[in-house]
Amino acid sequence: MKTIRQSTSVRLAPTGEIAGLRARLAEAEGTLRAIRAGEVDTVMVAGKEGSQVFTLDGAEHAYRVLIESMNEGALMLTADKTILFANQCFARMVKCPLEQVTGSSFRRFLSIADRAALKSLLKQSDQSGAKIQLVLYAGDQTQVPAHLSLRPLARNGFKSATFGIVVTDMTEARRNEEKLRALTQRVVQAQEAERGRVALDLHDHITQLLCAVLVRSQTLADRLPAYAGPLKREALKLRELLGQAADEVERISRNLRPGVLEQLGLATVLRNACTEFAQRTGVPLKLTCVALTARLPGDIELTLYRILQEALQNVALHAHARHVQVSLTKPDGLVRLVIHDDGISFDLEPHPAGPNGLGGLGLLSMRERAAYVWGTLSVKSVPGKGTTITVQIPLEKIEASRHSFARKPKLECL
Ligand SMILES: Nc1ncnc2c1ncn2[C@@H]1O[C@H](COP(=O)(O)OP(=O)(O)OP(=O)(O)O)[C@@H](O)[C@H]1O
Ligand SMILES: [Mg+2]
Repeated sequence: MKTIRQSTSVRLAPTGEIAGLRARLAEAEGTLRAIRAGEVDTVMVAGKEGSQVFTLDGAEHAYRVLIESMNEGALMLTADKTILFANQCFARMVKCPLEQVTGSSFRRFLSIADRAALKSLLKQSDQSGAKIQLVLYAGDQTQVPAHLSLRPLARNGFKSATFGIVVTDMTEARRNEEKLRALTQRVVQAQEAERGRVALDLHDHITQLLCAVLVRSQTLADRLPAYAGPLKREALKLRELLGQAADEVERISRNLRPGVLEQLGLATVLRNACTEFAQRTGVPLKLTCVALTARLPGDIELTLYRILQEALQNVALHAHARHVQVSLTKPDGLVRLVIHDDGISFDLEPHPAGPNGLGGLGLLSMRERAAYVWGTLSVKSVPGKGTTITVQIPLEKIEASRHSFARKPKLECL
């Protein structure tokens, strides 16, 4: 450990006043740097009345070294958000020299909305601490997504309350999230394209084939004489079954490829999907649908339709529900789809594992589809009360970003 001898008076050579001042400044900066880096445990200041010794507390020093070597930003704030202490990591994060950070207001790094959010959080935070995600505005005007974990500190002689904050730079985490999201969206798109291909194959080949066999079986039944009673009845039964198979294939093909969505609009296809669910499963379903005076953007209509299909599929397969309710509403600037069943519910945490040890794809793809159009999807499942899925999509946001939509590959309604 170092001891620094600090002189309070410097005698300057008459010709070297500026050089002397520079030397003194450099020495002072070196001293400050050494103190901050934890290289100093004693400071001796020489004055008129002799030398004074300032000992930097040993335990404090260890903490300082720890905090300076952390890969997270560390701050100590007053209640009015003045920065009493910041470590180098925080200074690097906000791209400001540390000496300009210490003593300044933390508010300068925040947007107006985040200032208000932090203010109320500081007011509410108790010993258990609080967390917030916000964006820091760095010295070079770049934005740094950050996670703040804060906690009030013991007063320790300070007159007013202080807060300790650990600041985590989320830039890398956000980038990874975006990459993952882009990947999932490509999976959703590939799923749509694949569904379209399967639907076309079903329609062009299987349905055509079934129709041809249906006509032949009808011809066979017609040609069989009346005295071949049992055979004729068998042929008629065969024709009936083939008719049902053709209808079923057509239904599957239609669901895979909601071409009708473009022609009939969301309300009609939602109604058709609900009617079909009730007929197929025997579970009564009540649909409430707001009067849609204008068409919603195609991406939103397809998203809502696909989410309803997945959710109803889950109800049919897992819920054992007695009743289902579906509602489509348009509260201020939003479109909201709610699917509620009074079935057996399920554990949201941990994620239910499928037979291969992985969760199913239904809930995940619903969430991703909602996020794709800036929406959110929440799942609430309560034992004895069933499951409620709520999708909310902000209409303004998607309208405003319509121009920049070229960036995003469109979800095709095949
Ligand atoms: N409405 C519901 N009621 C009861 N359990 C449900 C409901 N919805 C989902 N679950 C449970 O959550 C699990 C995950 O659902 P998810 O749709 O993600 O996958 P999956 O239906 O198992 O498979 P996939 O949808 O990929 O064919 C289901 O296996 C089921 O256990
Ligand atoms: Mg599912």
